[in-house]
Amino acid sequence: MHIPVLLKEVIDILAPKSGERVLDCTFGGGGHTSAILNASDCYVCAIDRDPEARDRALQLKNTYNERFDFVLAQFSEISVLFSDKQKFDAVLFDFGVSSFQLDKAERGFSFLNDAPLDMRMSKNGISAYDVVNTFSEEDLADILWTYGDEILSRKIASAIVDARKLHPIGTTLQLANIVRETARFKHVTKKHSKIDIATKTFQAIRIFVNDELREISTALENLPEILNDGARMVLISFHALEDRIVKNWAKSQRNTLLPINDFVVRPTSKEISANPRSRSAILRGFLYNTAGDRRKKSEDKGE
Ligand SMILES: C[S@@+](CC[C@H](N)C(=O)[O-])C[C@H]1O[C@@H](n2cnc3c(N)ncnc32)[C@H](O)[C@@H]1O
Repeated sequence: MHIPVLLKEVIDILAPKSGERVLDCTFGGGGHTSAILNASDCYVCAIDRDPEARDRALQLKNTYNERFDFVLAQFSEISVLFSDKQKFDAVLFDFGVSSFQLDKAERGFSFLNDAPLDMRMSKNGISAYDVVNTFSEEDLADILWTYGDEILSRKIASAIVDARKLHPIGTTLQLANIVRETARFKHVTKKHSKIDIATKTFQAIRIFVNDELREISTALENLPEILNDGARMVLISFHALEDRIVKNWAKSQRNTLLPINDFVVRPTSKEISANPRSRSAILRGFLYNTAGDRRKKSEDKGE
């Protein structure tokens, strides 16, 4: 079960109206999509790269019929998926993995269960197994440092390469134990921390396997092409790397993007205790207003 994060805040900002077109770029379990469809008589198109999300979307199609469509695609493709006549009035991105992906052991995203290393959202391309067993020590260290901010990146990479000389590292628990052992040896295990020391390594490999940061940058670059004037946008990040891309994009588009809130929106402690996976959510909302761009251009021309 996936509990949609910051649900009320998302609906308040997207404010879907009857007859409007809404795009949910990260369908997942469809929690946000269902709430949008229930909030008004709007149309929702949802995207997800995971074929298992498509199976869940079929159930929603039976309920909402022509008010809902699902497209199995990567959100970096939005500018080619929709024509000029198919622009949107509201768009949602809820980045990262869904609970369906994390909780299904055989998808290989989590070290809470032992399962084959995989982590591919789209179920194709290189897997976590390929990365861990074939990448050079240097490349592994770079991935752990760049996408996981892991201070032990070099030590962990070296331990991975040593371990795989004996036999391939096939499962999530084998990898987690290599990381835990390296941290224990280096005395960096935090006794009272609730966060497992292997978390950063798993995050880093997952981001690399799914090319997550490039997906976000490309999607945001192309986003204006599919927006109607006055469109509302919500972007929910789960770590600083994602949020930095959103922040820089908003800065680069400041003539047309108006922030809806003065500050980022975060879940309340009540939401976090009901849904601990929401704890790192950072929501930013924007209004697309091309009038600002027109004003800036005429100012530049001295009109
Ligand atoms: C956090 S979940 C979304 C949960 C959803 N909002 C809900 O309420 O159920 C993120 C979803 O986005 C999908 N996703 C991540 N990156 C994607 C990409 N580049 N293109 C398309 N879907 C992506 C994942 O497969 C996952 O199902």
